[in-house]
Amino acid sequence: MRRIVIVSNRVAPVNETASKGATGGLAVAILDTLRESNGLWFGWSGNVREAPVASPAIAEPTRDNPFETVTVDLTPAEHSGYYNGYANRILWPVLHYRTDLMEYHSEDFRTYQRVNANFVSQLVPLLREDDLIWLHDYHLMMAPRDLRQAGVKNRIGFFLHTPFPSAEVFATLPNHRELISSLCHCDLIGFQTPGDLRAFEDYITHEAGGQVHTNEEFEAFGRQFRAQVFPISIDPEAFAGAARESSRSNIANRLRESLDGRALMVGVDRLDYSKGLPERFLSFEHLLDRYPENRRRVTFLQIAPYSRTEVPEYKLIRSRLEGLSGRINGRFSEVDWTPLRYINRGLARKTLAGVLRHSRVALVTPLRDGMNLVAKEYVAAQDPEDPGVLVLSRFAGAAHELKEALIVNPLDYENTGEALQRALSMSLDERKERWSALMETIRQQDITAWRKSFIAALKAH
Ligand code: ADP
Ligand code: F6P
Repeated sequence: MRRIVIVSNRVAPVNETASKGATGGLAVAILDTLRESNGLWFGWSGNVREAPVASPAIAEPTRDNPFETVTVDLTPAEHSGYYNGYANRILWPVLHYRTDLMEYHSEDFRTYQRVNANFVSQLVPLLREDDLIWLHDYHLMMAPRDLRQAGVKNRIGFFLHTPFPSAEVFATLPNHRELISSLCHCDLIGFQTPGDLRAFEDYITHEAGGQVHTNEEFEAFGRQFRAQVFPISIDPEAFAGAARESSRSNIANRLRESLDGRALMVGVDRLDYSKGLPERFLSFEHLLDRYPENRRRVTFLQIAPYSRTEVPEYKLIRSRLEGLSGRINGRFSEVDWTPLRYINRGLARKTLAGVLRHSRVALVTPLRDGMNLVAKEYVAAQDPEDPGVLVLSRFAGAAHELKEALIVNPLDYENTGEALQRALSMSLDERKERWSALMETIRQQDITAWRKSFIAALKAH
């Protein structure tokens, strides 16, 4: 079997994952992928050091995690310019259609290029001739060019976990040509949805002057490659098993007792402005306003662990949410009922699965999201005899597949509030019918299908 070499900015803290929970779709999906296929995972150690260790840290495979991890440190300047700067204040907002939040400094792009080049130079000596190299996400868009310049002839694939925005939006990035011409050194580029692929095709034909042939063959910047859709997913049976077990746990009992028979609505997201959390809080407020019969009868639990805390836009969204949650609770709480429970902590995956199972409604309402694995996890966690209802943003990649969810436009928070009311009052028959269809879709396109189809396409090129 050919070895798979995964390269991503974030390498999950493998040994802690089972207990603490890896937050972030990429880490969760790659862990599942690597557990099924021996390989190597290369990326940032998560450490920021004035004088980084010269050679990468190598962790040998273990029984639980049969793959090697190789990690490198970042200096404070690299962390600031590459991760907080170019990746998360420039690329992230543009990829999520928030050009208004882009904070451009050309120095950050130079740092981003330097870090990509440094990752590549540390990776190259570890490569074997027939390794399949699989690069992940927007942090590493310059790496394909650097790998080729270093003489690497291996197959190279790249998967973008975020949306690819419309060509006009992408072109607001001052470095858009450098980024895409680097990506064109790959053999295969993967996107989450057909919409992302269409936007990329549009970029290639109209901005890059390239060509898109049949069979997803592309030509641009003097290179030939393929680009295809591979919707990322989860292991639904494993998640369902965890949810079943966890629903009998201590924590699940505590949760049930604390609810005292009230219906639970849940949201689980990194604290990110792309997740539409203020709009979600407003839709909950609308529900309580417009349908007062829900007061005292419904509790909304929003779990939102802090993310990218040094980036100013994340500090702003955090204080906005603190204000909104305080206002809603101040307005509606009673001595024995708090409508909104707002928690900024990660949960162990098993606990999370149990919480999802116990929730009558899930609110997955990002303003933009590459896929959103929580939507799929919520469906997998449900009790088939009494499933809950998924309220899903049309702007999540998952909405392309999960058509039997209640699909909403999160910017219309009143309409989302109406969908919440519909979800809370939906008959058991309708809930079961929608859930079966959703679960079937997730079973057919699970994490194994995602990995296998990407690897097969990469080999086949
Ligand atoms: P993103 O990649 O933008 O973070 P996704 O929804 O695709 O969004 O993936 C998030 C992943 O992180 C999911 O697997 C989810 O279960 C996990 N996660 C998010 N928040 C928490 C939390 N508070 N505790 C545990 N896991 C979490
Ligand atoms: O695609 C979403 C993503 O950026 C992943 O790359 C990453 O795992 C996740 O969000 C968490 O973000 P960060 O690595 O910045 O904590």
